[in-house]
Formats: sequence, C-alpha cells, structure tokens
Amino acid sequence: MTEKKEIVMSGIRPTGHLHLGNYFGAIRNYIKMQDDFDCYFMVADLHSLTTHPDTRLLKGNVHRVLAENIACGLDPDKVALYCQSQVFETPELYLYLNMLAYVGELEKTVTFKDKIRQHPGNINAGLLTYPVLQAADIILHRARYVPVGKDQEQHLEMARNFANRFNHRYGEVFPEPQAFNYNQLLVKVPGLDGAGKMSKSENQMATLFLADEDELIRKKVMKAKTDSGPTATDMPKPDYIENIFGLMKLVSGNEVIGKYEDDYNNASIRYGDMKKQLAEDMVNFISPIRSKIAVILKDERYLKDTMEKGAEKARTSAKATMHLVREAIGLNY
Ligand code: TRP
Repeated sequence: MTEKKEIVMSGIRPTGHLHLGNYFGAIRNYIKMQDDFDCYFMVADLHSLTTHPDTRLLKGNVHRVLAENIACGLDPDKVALYCQSQVFETPELYLYLNMLAYVGELEKTVTFKDKIRQHPGNINAGLLTYPVLQAADIILHRARYVPVGKDQEQHLEMARNFANRFNHRYGEVFPEPQAFNYNQLLVKVPGLDGAGKMSKSENQMATLFLADEDELIRKKVMKAKTDSGPTATDMPKPDYIENIFGLMKLVSGNEVIGKYEDDYNNASIRYGDMKKQLAEDMVNFISPIRSKIAVILKDERYLKDTMEKGAEKARTSAKATMHLVREAIGLNY
C-alpha cells in the first residue's frame, strides 16, 4: 500500500515572463515538493480578471506561464498543473465562503488597500473578495501546505480563518492550510542595480528573465553596479558588491566564488572579470531553460492536453471535497 501524501496547493499569477527571483524564490520550491507531496499547482487566471486586463492576452499569458514552469522542471505527470477557470467547483466553494467572509475584514486586507490606491476607478467586489477566491482555491483540495512568499501571508491567514469558520458552522471538513518552505529563509535574488530584489515591474535592466537572450543577459550583468574596488584588504563589502557575490552563489561553482572572495579580500579583485564570469555562468544557467520554453510554447496541442490532464486531476479532488461541503451545509435534499 502506498502511503498517503500530504496535500500541497499553490497558485501562480499568469503575468508571464518569469525571472530569476521567481525561479529561486518559488519554482524551485515547487519542483522539490513534487516528489514528496500530492501537489496542485494552478494558474490563477480568474484572479487576474479583478484588474480588467486585455483578455485577448490571457491565452498567451497562460500558455507562457505553463511553459515556463514546465521548462524549469515542474512535471505535469507528477503534479496537477491546471488552470483555475477550468475547475468549476472553485466558484461554487467561493460562493459558500463569501457568506462567511465579513466585509470589514476584507476591506482591511493590505493587498485590497494597495489595489484601490492603484486603481481608484475600478474598486469592484471581485477585488474585495480576492482572498475568498484564493481560500477556495486552497481548501478545495483540502490542502495543508501552501508554498508562497511573504506577500501572501495575510491571504493565507484569511484562508485559515474561512476554513475554521466553515468547520465551526457546518462541521469539520477542512484542515488548516499553512505556509510552507523548505528553507526557512526564502532566497531573495538581488537585482543587478544594487537596489532591492529582482522584480517584474521595476528596473528591467536589473532583472534577468528566463526568456532573455544570451546577449541581453551579458549586457545586463556587465551593467551591474560596481566601484573601483576595495582600497584595503579584508574590507566589508558594500551592498551592491555583496549582491554580485549573491548572484554568483546561485549559478557559479564553489572554486569560482572562492577565487573572487580571495581576490576581494586581497584587494586585487577585477570587477570586470568577475562580471564576465558571472555573465557566462548566467547564460549557461538560463539558456537551456529559455530553449525549452520556446519548444513548449510552439506546441499548442501539448499545452492544451497538459492543461486538460491537470484540470481532470483537480476536478477529481474538487468533486470529493464539494460532496463533503454540500453534505455539511445541508444542501443534500
Ligand atoms: N494571490 C496569489 C499571488 O498573487 C496567487 C494565488 C491565487 C494563490 N490562488 C492561490 C497562491 C492559492 C497560493 C494559493 O501570487
């Protein structure tokens, strides 16, 4: 008999063009989890509708995010990799949970407050109940672990509250979902400009995308901020130099890193050489992933089949939960 694995669920925003920060922050966690857990990884296309995007771009964005995750090593045969809008049980559970979510608590959500500041002309109810939909995504599979970053902690706490409220009102159906990460500290990937971390929206030249061409990777790395070098031996490193070492630790070999650490401490380091080395190591890391993404993106049949296979797995789990939910509420006439 095979042992029953714990259930993991997470959602991926279909905004496309993943970068190194996403890779080392999130995707690597998913890939590690796929062997140890029963995983549901979902593209959150319904959530994206809250901000009224040009929906002609949806299909391309959904395909891209799927291709990127698969190219990084997520295996659709091991996990349920699916699209939110293809599992109709989600909106059903969302509706029941909406009756348990208080307007006051939803209005206090940090992401909601940010959104109404950014889009004062579009403060819709979907935006207000965004955390309710996210809770539905998670507890639909009665998931226990949710690999997410710090920015999602409040949403996860709300999901726990909604799950508990459901259990108290109607009877025990849901486990309490909790955040999960292998390494206590999530890897923060520093940007190349010495200011903050790699991010989709901020300085494009400071962020390495998995779709970047080799020449662009080299150009970005060579532009990384440095100075004329340490003026004495064993000096502390300024932040932007620490960042370059940090990036090297992600993709370069130990001897390479050791050499530049020694050069720094001897005050003989040549940042031009160091960046050239980093650029080549980045190219070697990113270019095989980029090629895989391109191959997968061209194969629309494969993408469609993969999504359908994932949705099928997700629906099986969702149907079982919704049976319990309807029974618990009393919708079983
Ligand atoms: N809100 C998440 C984000 O912005 C995406 C998401 C949707 C999600 N549903 C989820 C994350 C369920 C974890 C679990 O990144």
